[in-house]
Amino acid sequence: LPSLVFVRNFASNVIQNITVVGGGLMGSGIAQVAAQAGNSVTLVDVNDDLLKKTSQRIETSIQRVAKKVYKEKPEDGEKFITESLKKITYSTDIPASVTKADLVVEAIVEKMDIKHKLFSSIDKVAPEHTIFASNTSSLSITEIASVTNRKDRFGGLHFFNPVPVMKLLEVIRTNETSDETYQKMMAWGKAIGKVTITCKDTPGFVVNRLLVPILLEAIRMYERGDASARDIDIALKLGAGHPMGPLELADYVGLDTNKNIVDGWHAKFPDNPLFNPIDSLNKLVAEGKLGVKTGEGFYKYEKK
Ligand code: NAI
Repeated sequence: LPSLVFVRNFASNVIQNITVVGGGLMGSGIAQVAAQAGNSVTLVDVNDDLLKKTSQRIETSIQRVAKKVYKEKPEDGEKFITESLKKITYSTDIPASVTKADLVVEAIVEKMDIKHKLFSSIDKVAPEHTIFASNTSSLSITEIASVTNRKDRFGGLHFFNPVPVMKLLEVIRTNETSDETYQKMMAWGKAIGKVTITCKDTPGFVVNRLLVPILLEAIRMYERGDASARDIDIALKLGAGHPMGPLELADYVGLDTNKNIVDGWHAKFPDNPLFNPIDSLNKLVAEGKLGVKTGEGFYKYEKK
């Protein structure tokens, strides 16, 4: 793990109070890295059962970080765990959770109408200075922000899975994001130990706009029978230095997620052949073969 993981007091950042909405895979990771960096974090989800699972997941993950970072000094590791965990408050009360926030990061389901509902409701109760950000992978930040009266204090903060491990943070500024908001988002990203890059509000931002077409082309090659799944993956790993092959990666991300992304882009850009629907992908999804999480996708996996 990079030494960047533990960056408490690394920067005196104006953003100290964070509210993360959505305690799933991404939201729990975002809350964790912010707490590790010393932010006060409120993590919100729809019910207490989910929040209990989220808090357990965070605890396990922080313990893993402490074990690696404080290998030589287990007592400092214990302190790090206790202090980081103390920084996180859990809540199901969305309006109350944003009243002290400097920054709200949204990591709920990838549905425009649900994100609109959330942002228009918290826009009315959050303080004037609060910055809103979405962690969306495939939706337009401008469109998400459109329901608020703070389009200048709205941007994208796109993290990568698993958040505590992946170093990159894409900071997305729309045409309406102010310089001040952008600077604050960049400073916060660095303060929580991420390497930040800047991108316009363009579909897929940088990483997914380049990576998803590779995955889709790999699926098309496999569908045509040009090469086996294993050989396509070996080729990209050993021939292009990719840490994972494209079909392995598609299985890891989830074939339903890949399908949702390509369907969304195809609807928006019907003339771009890169985003054309793929029969074999649709078939696997229809059969419930979604990749690692269901035990089968392009490969078979042992169920955990
Ligand atoms: P997830 O399904 O693991 O978690 C979503 C959480 O949001 C759930 O716990 C759900 O109960 C909660 N939620 C749903 N509606 C809510 C509401 N109205 N208020 C409060 N909580 C609500 O999803 P995941 O994978 O964490 O994705 C979240 C967002 O992050 C999506 O926009 C996705 O596009 C984006 N993203 C996902 C990545 C991934 O690899 N899974 C990578 C980067 C971004």
